[in-house]
Amino acid sequence: MKKDIEKEAVKLRNQLTKHNYKYYVLDDPEISDAEYDRMMNRLIAIEKQYPYLVTLDSPTKRVGGLALESFKTTVHSLPMLSLDNGFKETDIMDFHNRILKLLEIDDIFYTVEPKFDGVAVELRYEHGMLTLASTRGDGIAGEIITDNVRTIKSVPLSLLKDRNIGIPSVLEVRGEVIINKVEFENLNKERLKIKENLFANPRNAAAGSLRQLDSKITASRPLEIFIHGTGFVKDINYSSHSEIFHILKKFGFRINSIIKEKIKINEVLLMYKKLKHLRNSLAYEIDGLVIKVDSIKYQEKLGAKTKSPRWAIAYKFPAVQETTKIKDIIVQVGRTGILTPVALVEPVNIGGVIVSRATLHNFDEIQRKNIKIKDIVLVERAGDVIPKIVKVIKSKRKGKEKDFLLPVKCPVCSSEVKKNKNEAALKCINVFCSAQLKQRIKHFVSKSGFDIDGLGNKLVEKLVEKGLVNSFADIFSLEKENLATIDRMGEKSAENILNSIEKSKSVSLLKFLSSMGIPHVGENVCFLITERLQTLEQIKFLKIKDIKIIDGIGPRIAGALQKFFANSDNIMIINQMLENGVNIKNNFKKDRTNKEKILKGKKFVLTGVLEEMTRGQAKEKLEKLGAKVSSSISSKTNFLVSGKSSGKKLGKAQSLNIKIISEQGFLELLGKAEN
Ligand code: IVH
Repeated sequence: MKKDIEKEAVKLRNQLTKHNYKYYVLDDPEISDAEYDRMMNRLIAIEKQYPYLVTLDSPTKRVGGLALESFKTTVHSLPMLSLDNGFKETDIMDFHNRILKLLEIDDIFYTVEPKFDGVAVELRYEHGMLTLASTRGDGIAGEIITDNVRTIKSVPLSLLKDRNIGIPSVLEVRGEVIINKVEFENLNKERLKIKENLFANPRNAAAGSLRQLDSKITASRPLEIFIHGTGFVKDINYSSHSEIFHILKKFGFRINSIIKEKIKINEVLLMYKKLKHLRNSLAYEIDGLVIKVDSIKYQEKLGAKTKSPRWAIAYKFPAVQETTKIKDIIVQVGRTGILTPVALVEPVNIGGVIVSRATLHNFDEIQRKNIKIKDIVLVERAGDVIPKIVKVIKSKRKGKEKDFLLPVKCPVCSSEVKKNKNEAALKCINVFCSAQLKQRIKHFVSKSGFDIDGLGNKLVEKLVEKGLVNSFADIFSLEKENLATIDRMGEKSAENILNSIEKSKSVSLLKFLSSMGIPHVGENVCFLITERLQTLEQIKFLKIKDIKIIDGIGPRIAGALQKFFANSDNIMIINQMLENGVNIKNNFKKDRTNKEKILKGKKFVLTGVLEEMTRGQAKEKLEKLGAKVSSSISSKTNFLVSGKSSGKKLGKAQSLNIKIISEQGFLELLGKAEN
């Protein structure tokens, strides 16, 4: 009987280890989560009843154990060196030429991999068992974090056996612990809900999660690992860096798929350019690439300086974060009257772009991040988005920093400001406020609305400032003489603008509705509405109780529509527009064809939990737009929409270079499809 139980425990452990490996290392799961949980629960039950059956590498050991009082330290068998950095092509060519000279050779092969922006760790395996995990520390000694590292599912607790390679008596591997971007966002969202401090970036989140004295907390964090090298190794012979990667893979370690083996320097430079473009679409943060001499013989010949080896260099991407000083905090007024604080900072070059302002999102953020005027702050610029303030460098405070005071009146029109129930934002209550008007008109003439060529933001501002445009309707009564009063406006430009205005008068119901800038009623919502309601009259008299007839429209949107059309000023302006020649056509079919064009034939895979709609609804929407939705990723997939708690499909999408978009990005794409 006992023998049977013992056999069952061994079998369960082997199966769970295999499935864990398939899921977290290979991203290629074979069984359902429910099946995995059932086996795990059975093993937990057996080990509880027969504690002597527990092994050091049992998958039940991944859940975290007793909390520690403090971390003990360990001296690394071999120092954990750092890397020299290069930023320009000439830095890399200097590195290359130096190596050729030192080795007295003409050419050399490199193995190149991403530089992961995470936390460096070392894992020690003795006779195949994970016995010690430590942080880099000062490179000589680090902290022991074995219990925490055991909870990382992509870390093997024991080495996989391979017919061709024996288990070494000692194998130390080194790698980077990371949290992927989607999981980082989710983690911060959860922390916001429970009013915990937010992590500034995925690296901080990974570091904070690894440095927990209570490994149960670490177990609850979505940590992953990529292995990028070795420390002290006994009983394995290998002659190149690329070869050790293949061996490590066979032992069950997670090796990144973007690695390029044995390439020449010109291909290295090409890879840098490619990776720089790919960077934003990767699921995890990288800050450059690491170039390593492939041959171990050459590595040994080249040796190391005190802090870094001569055979490797990090080729870094331009910085996306820089420190600067907040000169002032101003308040901007949006089209619906929402006040948004913006930090004016001392101009700073971040990755080739001069940044002089950063968004603060809302007033709560100023409090949450404890931001003061004259603070030294860390500013981040990611892709095309508006730069944001990551955190205050508190150690740089001099005591002269000033608190930002919440506005009591609108900075533009001096009207009263109000905070609506259940809304975080402060609002200017004056609908005639010129700042609101400017933003509303800018939206009205943009591609999402009447799409009037030549009427750019600067011109709109001038027209409002001069009192020539006080409402949407005024655009259609503008005359050449009016435009002539604007500085630097030539006769020809004025004519062109008037022609564009004339042309725009014939407008689809969808664009008309979207141009109004009604809160919560963006282009995508307008698409859904005008699909069912085909005239302006029908939309005007939509009642909250009737909203059931429109799929995807909830009470919040219906309420906003009702409020907008109940306002007699809005009705008056619409009537004036019609009098001024605006002609609303119900050409929904044309709108739909336009919209279908963008996504037609595109292949989507949806993964994780979406918050704004179910996956079924998302699928239906995409199919309406001519896109195809499938459940598995292939090289033909165009987009992976990654919702909350996704994970397993991300790796596969990455390895196939498939564009990964968040739910927000997905919603934006749906919206864009209308243009
Ligand atoms: S190799 C002696 N490869 O960068 C060479 N390091 O600045 C040791 N890092 O502490 C490092 N990605 O934690 C190597 N693909 C990669 C890496 C990588 C990130 C980290 C590593 C190291 C730091 C050096």
